Amino acid sequence: MPLKLLLRTLHDPAAQEPRQLRLYQLLKGAIADGRLGPGTRLPSSRQLAADHGLARNTVLFSYQQLLAEGWVQAHRGGTRVASRGPDHEAAPPMAPACAGMLSARARQLPALHAHESLLPFAPGVPDLNAFPWASWARCLQQAWGEVRARQLVAGHPGGAPELRHSVAQFLSGRRGVVCTPEQVFIVVGAQMALDACARLLADSGDTAWLENPGYGAARNTMLAAGLDVVGVPVDAQGMAPDEGLWQRSPPRLIVLTSSHQYPTGAVLSLQRRLDFLRRLHGRDTWLIEDDYGSDFRHARASPALPAIQGLQPQAPVIYIGTFSKLLYPGLRMAYMVVPRWAVRELGKAIRNLYRSGQVVEQRALARFLNSGQLTHHMRRMAGLLYFSGMYGPDALCKLHVVMRTGLHACIRLA
Ligand SMILES: Cc1ncc(COP(=O)(O)O)c(C=O)c1O
Repeated sequence: MPLKLLLRTLHDPAAQEPRQLRLYQLLKGAIADGRLGPGTRLPSSRQLAADHGLARNTVLFSYQQLLAEGWVQAHRGGTRVASRGPDHEAAPPMAPACAGMLSARARQLPALHAHESLLPFAPGVPDLNAFPWASWARCLQQAWGEVRARQLVAGHPGGAPELRHSVAQFLSGRRGVVCTPEQVFIVVGAQMALDACARLLADSGDTAWLENPGYGAARNTMLAAGLDVVGVPVDAQGMAPDEGLWQRSPPRLIVLTSSHQYPTGAVLSLQRRLDFLRRLHGRDTWLIEDDYGSDFRHARASPALPAIQGLQPQAPVIYIGTFSKLLYPGLRMAYMVVPRWAVRELGKAIRNLYRSGQVVEQRALARFLNSGQLTHHMRRMAGLLYFSGMYGPDALCKLHVVMRTGLHACIRLA
């Protein structure tokens, strides 16, 4: 194909790239798809510059780039298209079908509902209009004022020490969790904690028990780690495995939402909590207590039971909590509490797999907790949430009625 035709878009006024880059791209494209065949002699840089109204340096740059990449070769003082193109030529001519390039595990992940849209009654999303923007912004600003440049390289492994300390205090006061700050690991959302449990506490092919119905994101996390997911029925007292299941499918992980089963709202009874702890004896099983829903309770719901973790602090229990409900889901800040005897080994594995960050946000959050602003915010939200009907089975019924009568505009979240 004549070079004039190939380079007709060289002076396209709409093109964003510098001329030398454009020339290089046009020539490379023509060589790659065979319009300029192997052995074709390219004009001298002087000639091509004159023919196309270019500076000679522009052409030299393009030729040198093509030469460096192996698209052309120097030949008897001239430049010819290489007989075999560089490695790029070996690449498949068309983009491969993407699905085939994902792992079988990724292809099988069930779809989750989109989190981005803030529709009325979206489960798991607090009333963001009530978020205390000004005080949070102040905490962030103060944190920025304290932080030094070198601290921006990476977060402290396990999370900012002051936040680990505040979370340990917060949990012992509110949830009966028995832990020291070293047992608290700050993570990027409860989702990351579940991911760490799936990948670091179990091997692919191991069995994970999940509540059915349950939290889709937990299920996907386990599936993506190659675990064999078993859905365990839920009743009014929470996860209810029968005797046969313990025999047939002994679990490596048991993942449950203890204080507010998602989505039924059932509270795992004390009897069941003790039974799970008893069953852990003599087994290589971890219990993952996802306590995402303990923070807000309204007057009519039963009071929150203390965390399972606090009943037997030495048991193989990982306690997970999140700030997604207390503050806002996009913050991606949560924590996992690991048994004291697992801190060293599990801490090392977590550090070897993930990098820590959120240097400023973690400091800001520690301030928010220590100054009592979080408690204040929680008190305020507890009142609003009653009306939103997001928490508790009776509130859910009420919500349905309201939706059917089309009155949802009067609900706070609408
Ligand atoms: C059962 C359950 N666990 C955990 C979370 C919170 O996860 P994250 O901290 O990743 O936002 C949610 C959020 O909706 C949830 O429903």
